[in-house]
Amino acid sequence: MLERLNHVALAVPDLDAAVAAYRDTLGAEVTEPQALPEHGVTVVFVNVGNTKIELMEPLGKGSPIAAFLAKNPAGGMHHLCYEVANIIAARDRLEAAGARVLGDGNPGIGAHGKPVLFLHPKDFFGTLIELEQS
Ligand code: CO
Repeated sequence: MLERLNHVALAVPDLDAAVAAYRDTLGAEVTEPQALPEHGVTVVFVNVGNTKIELMEPLGKGSPIAAFLAKNPAGGMHHLCYEVANIIAARDRLEAAGARVLGDGNPGIGAHGKPVLFLHPKDFFGTLIELEQS
């Protein structure tokens, strides 16, 4: 069911500082910031050849990454995103296996304009998993 690793996401307290570190210090190609108010984050993507790194900063009140950053003030790894060919088939299979899909169980639209779902980290060894339809 899982296809390639689409991205690894890091929550960061200061997106400008994180962009500077990846672009200037690490010498990576970084996209322009993209505000995603429906997800409560502003994101950029770092292209690293075989996958991408998503850098996320809270946007607005009640951002879903605010609590994470309160616990990890310097930032940290927030989720892994795997591609799946059919997100509805993947969801149905996971729910049948007892895995918990966050929210109302219906896919939202992610940063790449494609359907995404998130799986409960307690079901996957402490790691939040995002699924994105490929
Ligand atoms: Co993501």
